[in-house]
Amino acid sequence: MFNKKIPVFVLAALAAPLMGCEKTVSYSADVAPILNDYCAQCHTPGAEGFTNSGFNVSSYETVMKGTSLGPVVDPGSAISSTLYRVIAKQSAVEIQMPPNEDATLAQGRGKVLPDDKVDTIQLWIDQGAKDN
Ligand code: HEC
Repeated sequence: MFNKKIPVFVLAALAAPLMGCEKTVSYSADVAPILNDYCAQCHTPGAEGFTNSGFNVSSYETVMKGTSLGPVVDPGSAISSTLYRVIAKQSAVEIQMPPNEDATLAQGRGKVLPDDKVDTIQLWIDQGAKDN
């Protein structure tokens, strides 16, 4: 009897992330370091990503302000957020970020963003894109 119960707990532990029990993503501890490592070289005043789009990753406020055309984060919905779409290959190749295709304006000079970091940003937006 006891032995038969163990797999239930194991399964519950494995299923927890799929059931929306993921940890809360923190902007300052989780998201800002990713933006600093993979985006800041181009998306701060004076650099070409900022010059071409107006998008500045220096602070939570500038990230939420978005590009010169408007916000790129739709709190609660990563899939409708430009910020998520450009890093998750859900946008035109010319604006996939960081640029690592020869077709892009910045011509392949970005470091590829690993999938787990894309997932962190997705989760942060889906959790409401808070300044936490
Ligand atoms: C090598 C330089 C470079 C890096 C690194 C880079 N970008 Fe960009 N980014 C650009 C350029 C250049 C543009 C303007 C593209 C255009 O207008 O065609 C841009 C545009 C954008 C836009 C606006 C897209 C639009 O037109 O709506 C967003 C959002 C963006 N980048 C997010 C990011 C994020 C997030 C990262 C890091 C994961 C990142 N970028 C890394 C150069 C860069």
